[in-house]
Amino acid sequence: MNIPVLTIDGPSGAGKGTVSRAVAKKMGWNYLDSGSIYRSLAVAALKQHVDLENEVAIVNIAQAMVLEFDCGDELVVRLDGEDITAQLGSEITGNAASIVAALPEVRNVLLQKQKDFKRLPGLVADGRDMGTVVFPDAENKVFLTASAAERAKRRYKQLIEKGIDANLARITNEIEERDRRDMERKAAPLAMASDALYIDSSDMTLEAVIEEVLNLIR
Ligand code: DC
Repeated sequence: MNIPVLTIDGPSGAGKGTVSRAVAKKMGWNYLDSGSIYRSLAVAALKQHVDLENEVAIVNIAQAMVLEFDCGDELVVRLDGEDITAQLGSEITGNAASIVAALPEVRNVLLQKQKDFKRLPGLVADGRDMGTVVFPDAENKVFLTASAAERAKRRYKQLIEKGIDANLARITNEIEERDRRDMERKAAPLAMASDALYIDSSDMTLEAVIEEVLNLIR
């Protein structure tokens, strides 16, 4: 049976999560936040004080970890039974996720976990390599990006709104460093699929981006 898949890839902070969730809700489709899988692995590795570049140790953790996703209005993630949702969004977790995600064997181990999200009536998959590696046959692909300065500004605003102290220059540096690591790694680097629709959201409202993506799948 044909299960429609929409992939949305792009760098950190481009709005992939918000757009993907909105489109999934509108279509009644399932949603895969693949970054949260790498983030969960990072949380597990940090908890066990394992060197994030030790591929053998990180692969062992990836194979052993049991992840549960509750995709209600808010995503709830449990790692080995423990609710780790609150730890997933931090910059520390995001940067650690980007380090473990560069290990090729780690990506192999996590491949099937991601493919398992493809279920009826459809799937919106958000990440870095959804359209290139995990779901290369998806009929609809988007590459969503925005300038680093704009992404840093949005992230800064989010943190301030949450009452978290933030520094715009530091966030900009971290975003640029993460972009570099995600794009320059050998295993499934962040790249646009040749058949993806390119959207630069720097000067677009969220509503306009969501509309453009919905138009693509309709
Ligand atoms: O989308 P995010 O910020 O939650 O992702 C966190 C890190 O995980 C990101 O810096 C790189 C990695 N990642 C990846 O390598 N492949 C994916 N499909 C999703 C995320």
